[in-house]
Amino acid sequence: MQTDYLVIGSGIAGLTYAVKMANAKPNATVTVLTKTFSDETNTKYAQGGIAGVWDEMKDSFDKHIEDTLIAGDGLCNTDTVKIVVTEGPERIREIIDWGAQFDVDADGEYALGREGGHSEHRILHHKDVTGKEMERALLQKAASLPNIRILNHYFVLDPITQHHFGYLVTKSTPDITCYGVYVLNLETHAIETIQSNITLLATGGNGAVYRSTTNPAIATGDGVAMVYRAKGRIENMEFIQFHPTALYEAGLRGQSFLITEAVRGDGGILRNHKGEAFMERYDERKDLAPRDIVARAIDSEMKISGTEHVYLDCRHIPLEDFVHHFPNIYEKCKSIGIDVTQQMIPVAPAAHYSCGGIKTDEHGRTSIRNLYAAGECASTGLHGANRLASNSLLEAMVYAHRSAVHAIEQAEPVVPPAQIPDWDARGTSNPREMILITQSLKELQLLMSDYVGIVRNNVRLQRAMRRLDLLHEEIEELYRTAIVSPQLCELRNMITVGYLIVKSAQFRHESRGLHYNTDYPEKCNLAQNIVL
Ligand code: FAD
Ligand code: SIN
Repeated sequence: MQTDYLVIGSGIAGLTYAVKMANAKPNATVTVLTKTFSDETNTKYAQGGIAGVWDEMKDSFDKHIEDTLIAGDGLCNTDTVKIVVTEGPERIREIIDWGAQFDVDADGEYALGREGGHSEHRILHHKDVTGKEMERALLQKAASLPNIRILNHYFVLDPITQHHFGYLVTKSTPDITCYGVYVLNLETHAIETIQSNITLLATGGNGAVYRSTTNPAIATGDGVAMVYRAKGRIENMEFIQFHPTALYEAGLRGQSFLITEAVRGDGGILRNHKGEAFMERYDERKDLAPRDIVARAIDSEMKISGTEHVYLDCRHIPLEDFVHHFPNIYEKCKSIGIDVTQQMIPVAPAAHYSCGGIKTDEHGRTSIRNLYAAGECASTGLHGANRLASNSLLEAMVYAHRSAVHAIEQAEPVVPPAQIPDWDARGTSNPREMILITQSLKELQLLMSDYVGIVRNNVRLQRAMRRLDLLHEEIEELYRTAIVSPQLCELRNMITVGYLIVKSAQFRHESRGLHYNTDYPEKCNLAQNIVL
């Protein structure tokens, strides 16, 4: 198959880019691949909203820039922050034009929420299902453009580079180039080749590497692992953001339901098992301190009391207000027997967002020629050591736009050096037992949660690395001999991502932002990115 523009991922980054490309190049084909259904994305689960300077009487670009820099703890790229904050409102207006609806107040003005680390009310939202509304609008817009083709159940395995033509490719090879991808068609089980002029990776996050995460099961870090295998640059993977308040449900593994930070923005108070509002002991901003501080405070309270969760107290919020702003959370709590007006909500931190990822420049270019990346899989420099709440949907749109503009104006089509070879599946057969995959996945998630969580130390990281080495050896053996499946490839990708997180964490001899190592509790004077 051949396409002019290839997009891997149908979340906010992939679809924004696809719409831009299709509009700008009506005679070109834009192909969007997604490994499950087009709306099964992290985007769909976003709750709190999208940050943007909207009320210029009270708010300003400078304040949003300052808040983002403070959260990022010395590692943000200031130019990137300025780009995202100043270009953001234009992108928000665009998605409103494409049909996305945000809540308004009694005067018909956008109702702006406030979340941790923000000095002003600047979060546009659609109830507590903002991402679902944005995804809906984007899919509808994409469907209206005849030159966009969305292919569900296409699992991308690897970008095609010189390596696949028999050339030796290392990190120092100049001009590693992407000619398209190898993809597993999950309906026919055939591995197909898609050749493209320009490819955008918009594969989202990697929360599934941890036992408990707010992310859906698709968040396995495939894009990051692929680029690392293709010898591209990966940055700051140690900065995994744990959301402080995922709903605690005993015995649940995998995706936890999120209780949006906006609930604390509307007055929700964190309490420990004794009923104490503990955040005032940790930070003067209390429940609205940046996420790393709140998550560590909860972790500490849980360790002190030996419990698996704390509580979010919303009993004082008038029911009508709660239901109006958080209908989805209200229903979810009710479905498990929690009446938010009478009972506190049990919550615990869960892996939520990857601040690092595929290193990109100001145009969304990766270190591989004709391969761009945007959204959560990319490391643009916006988040530094810690992402400010509701900045990621904004970043995804701004960088999808920039990637599209650059690809339209400057990128040159590439010609493969020869006919692209078919995928080589010689010597492989169906794996005898799925348990080899499912058990390794459990081991991976457990070791990442136990040793590479909110609080780290050198011994834990060393243990994690030893176990990852073994898992890596075993998965590579299986990969050489087994017919590829999404389960096998996702596990292989997640082991690579786990390795990148631990390796970066080991390189960072300090505590900064989301990375807290008790053996190096201080921050270094010199702020440095870690690029692998
Ligand atoms: P995604 O939306 O995750 O899309 C990834 C796409 O890549 C999917 O289509 C998937 O199928 C595809 N894909 C992945 N691997 C492959 C492969 N190998 N082959 C083919 N396709 C592949 N951010 C905010 O700014 N505000 C919020 O309020 C907010 N709330 C959140 C709440 C929750 C519960 C979660 C989980 C996240 C939240 N975030 C929020 C973060 C934000 O939603 C995500 O960072 C953002 O949506 C990521 O968008 P994306 O386009 O990069 O990737
Ligand atoms: C939330 O709604 O609390 C999540 C917001 C975010 O991750 O930016």
